[in-house]
Amino acid sequence: MTNSIEKETDFNKMIDARLSRRNFLLGSAAVGAGAFLALNPLAKAVAGSMNSAVMSFTAIPTSTSDAIIVPKGYSANTLMSWGDPIFPNAPVFNADGKQDAAAQALQFGDNTDGMSIFPIANDRAILAVNNEYTNYEYLFAHEGKKMTADDVKKAQAAVGITIVEIVKKEGQWVTDQNGKANRRITANTEMLVTGPAAGHDLLKTKADPTGTKVLGTFNNCANGETPWGTYLTCEENFNTFFGSEENVELTADDARYGIKAKPSKYQWNNFDERFDLAKNPTEPNRHGWVVEIDPNDPTSTPLKRTALGRFKHENAALVINDDGHIVVYLGDDERGEHLYKFVTKGKYQEGNNAANRNLLDEGTLYVAKFAMKADKLEGDGQWLELTYGKNGLTKENGFNSQAEVMIFARRAATQVGATTMDRPEWVAIHPDKKHVFCTLTNNKNRGVIEGQNVGGPNPRAKNHYGQIVRWTPTNQDHTSDAFQWDLYLIAGNPAVHEGDLYAGSANINKDNMFNSPDGIGFDKAGRLWIQTDGNFSNQGDFAGQGNNQMLCGDPTTGEVRRFLTGPIGCEITGLTFSEDQKTMFVGVQHPTGNYPQGGNNKPRSTIVMITKDDGGAIGS
Ligand code: FEO
Ligand code: CA
Ligand code: CA
Repeated sequence: MTNSIEKETDFNKMIDARLSRRNFLLGSAAVGAGAFLALNPLAKAVAGSMNSAVMSFTAIPTSTSDAIIVPKGYSANTLMSWGDPIFPNAPVFNADGKQDAAAQALQFGDNTDGMSIFPIANDRAILAVNNEYTNYEYLFAHEGKKMTADDVKKAQAAVGITIVEIVKKEGQWVTDQNGKANRRITANTEMLVTGPAAGHDLLKTKADPTGTKVLGTFNNCANGETPWGTYLTCEENFNTFFGSEENVELTADDARYGIKAKPSKYQWNNFDERFDLAKNPTEPNRHGWVVEIDPNDPTSTPLKRTALGRFKHENAALVINDDGHIVVYLGDDERGEHLYKFVTKGKYQEGNNAANRNLLDEGTLYVAKFAMKADKLEGDGQWLELTYGKNGLTKENGFNSQAEVMIFARRAATQVGATTMDRPEWVAIHPDKKHVFCTLTNNKNRGVIEGQNVGGPNPRAKNHYGQIVRWTPTNQDHTSDAFQWDLYLIAGNPAVHEGDLYAGSANINKDNMFNSPDGIGFDKAGRLWIQTDGNFSNQGDFAGQGNNQMLCGDPTTGEVRRFLTGPIGCEITGLTFSEDQKTMFVGVQHPTGNYPQGGNNKPRSTIVMITKDDGGAIGS
């Protein structure tokens, strides 16, 4: 092994070289004129000669089978599936759909998503996992067609977060139902609102006149973890859980967040008035936040951190800036919404977690504006401050306080002139702490809807493949208002398209193509893991792309190799590693065949563990 510091420096050099080469390679593309952009043929030649120093596995082909497939020399085993008991007194899963809310509240929630591991010892760790939403067709024997109040309670217990200790037994991780940290957090768990919007009139309800005590979290998409050992869960499509049978007059802000006065598909509004917009029009303002959870203490109160803004949060990627400020990058996953950054007012104090605990309550939220150079898929960018009284966030423009700027962060972002993006999903920060990546999963509205012009980091009209944007802050200072960006990859289908950007960037070929990058994360060696949540029809524009999958990218060479293919109907979402990098935990969400048990069994969202048969680090 080379000296790790030396290796790190080489890495940075290679990345810098790669950045400039990519800029050159992509530089001849004509941006802005329309949908069809020519790729430099030189790029293809370079792509063909890529040779990764960090990936040594053999790429696998696409798959349409109802199974998890990993490269030769690797194994995939189930850690847990929806409904598995996480407490000693929990009933085992019964597929008949008749288990009640009390049972579900003691079992692993549905639709596994973002997750983090908090190591306790070499052979023990805490796993915190989001349970994004729930599938009524599998949750209930009646498939949601005859809902009752008890059924709604069960659905509310199927979402939120599962915290469970895992232990290594005979070389393999298993859940420990007796773990002291084990906990379910659901749509009814008591939480506290903190930060600038806490106690604001817009957060008050009949049940909570303080505007600070909220019940529950739901649509917990992806996640983050802090250097002080807490878990961040991000509330995404919270709007889908609200509704009304009555004709309620809603605001333009409600519309911007997708709040609609019509029956919700989950039908909670019919049985729990908290979700009925006619009775509780401000309840939706209490959702759409990042929630901080202490995974070590199952009695701790989760905290909704309003300083990070309210939108459809995907994940939260944290970095300790060289000067000690914590910087959090945040995506808002909706067509034409934005990319954000939060900088704490205070500084991180290593070893003093009491002082770090509330760092996310005070600071400045920014939103990204990407400069677009004609003919280039790279450029500069700027972070625009979202502070009351600045940048037009004033009474004249409809903002009366910092609380309102946070509650209606989307409107504030528009006011300051943020760039509309192709659905920002996960953000991941390279271990070098200098390069930040964000998946822009797809956007059928690009070039179609006013305000969503083609160009810059969103270079294709009717973008159904997605891309990954990458930026580096000016002077490698994450608190800087300026950054430089390029596109790490443009997903596409070179088997269907030729000579334009729909064929993808130079590092995409017939053997590694995919669509809709979503979950991303780095391992310690700097491999970029890319998960997809896209069109798995395997037809038309998606011919040859198979089921949703996971790929591995080398940020230095740009090479991308397919590492895993998922079962029928699923998306692959959520990834974390054991401390030694030898087990990778991967989420398989909403499969629709018979995965994981096969036969005639009901499909169940599942966390799988990938190990290398020779005991090495995953991907090495
Ligand atoms: Fe829950 Fe944007 O994915
Ligand atoms: Ca996602
Ligand atoms: Ca997605």
